[in-house]
Amino acid sequence: MYQPAITGHGVFTPEQTITNDELVVAFNAYADLWNAEHAAQIAAGEVDAMAHSSSDFILNASGIEQRFVMDKEGVLDPARMYPRLPARPDDAPGIMAEMALDAATKALTMADRNGEDVDLVICAASNHERAYPAIAIEIQQLLGAGGFAFDMNVACSSATFGIQAAADMVRAGSARRALVVCPEICSGHLEWRDRDCHFIFGDVATAVLIERSDDAQGDRFDIISTRCATQFSNNIRNNNGFLRRTHDQMEDRRDMQFMQNGRKVFKEVLPMVSAHIADHMQAMGWQADDLKRLWLHQANKTMNDFIGKKVLGRVPEPGEQPNILQDYANTSSAGSIIAFSKNSGDLAMGDRGVICSFGAGYSVGSVLIERQ
Ligand code: COA
Repeated sequence: MYQPAITGHGVFTPEQTITNDELVVAFNAYADLWNAEHAAQIAAGEVDAMAHSSSDFILNASGIEQRFVMDKEGVLDPARMYPRLPARPDDAPGIMAEMALDAATKALTMADRNGEDVDLVICAASNHERAYPAIAIEIQQLLGAGGFAFDMNVACSSATFGIQAAADMVRAGSARRALVVCPEICSGHLEWRDRDCHFIFGDVATAVLIERSDDAQGDRFDIISTRCATQFSNNIRNNNGFLRRTHDQMEDRRDMQFMQNGRKVFKEVLPMVSAHIADHMQAMGWQADDLKRLWLHQANKTMNDFIGKKVLGRVPEPGEQPNILQDYANTSSAGSIIAFSKNSGDLAMGDRGVICSFGAGYSVGSVLIERQ
């Protein structure tokens, strides 16, 4: 058995941002258009008028101030409200592969490695651009990597489940050097016309390189332990799938995009995640005081503040439980890795931390790491 370690990590951030104010102007223009189109039904009491969104609500409910997106113009066009990301020809690299390649190159550079050093690529994301060939195999080819590659999907928990799979294979010796990439084009599965959730998501890609601790050429985080858990719930759901691609899809069905019962998610996932991290740490003999940092999934600031407080047994000090969702919004599986990648360079030898992601399924994954 070999000791697996994270030796590199990287983030691809799209160039375009949408502030809450810009988002709300577009949404309200869309709502006005919709109300004008449905004026007769609204006047007859057959349908409710669509209410305006508000920047204050968004900031207070979520902590989000802006989001990065792959195509701003399409999202903010009140007559469209959907990114313009046309399908590419089969012989051109996919959009997810390109995003992942950027993040992966940064992770490899940090670890002083090349693409050909990699023998496992896992593309772990909540939505994939196509069914097959796997996005991961395309990334493997673009990197010049060997070995094998596959896609996996555990929604917002994809990163930690991917890290567990990769770490286990490095530990067992079936892979020597593994990249876990999380390219998330959340703007493509968010219903930007739904006031309850139009502010939630953004686009990004992350990558972590996992290799044997003994092989590391620079600083590393040893992966001390991983733990994943799932429990079925319909409270976060997306019904898009291959059996739905018939005339159904022409009907503009709301359930073909991200849907959630946000309040229930909030109530049910919080105790599940807090208990999961606490049990995992206890099983490994870790105390709350041993933790230097918590890198949590980035869905909602109140949720993260609550989990941080529950795990540490006190209000986290500034920087102990870093949030990035004010800048990136919820980026599904990538959120905890962005938080880790941007807030781990200062940790000293022996410092310990937990990466934790959670979401649809329900699913929760935790990764206990130690700086070496
Ligand atoms: N602008 C203004 N008002 C809005 C609004 C918007 N964009 N969206 C909703 N509101 C209103 C609602 O109509 C409601 O009004 P009412 O009280 O008069 O009925 C009120 O604000 C509260 O709405 P609600 O949806 O209950 O808000 P909330 O406080 O529960 O916050 C979430 C919504 C989604 C931010 C919150 O539930 C959440 O973060 N849940 C967990 C999300 C999560 O982790 N999901 C996992 C995804 S991976």
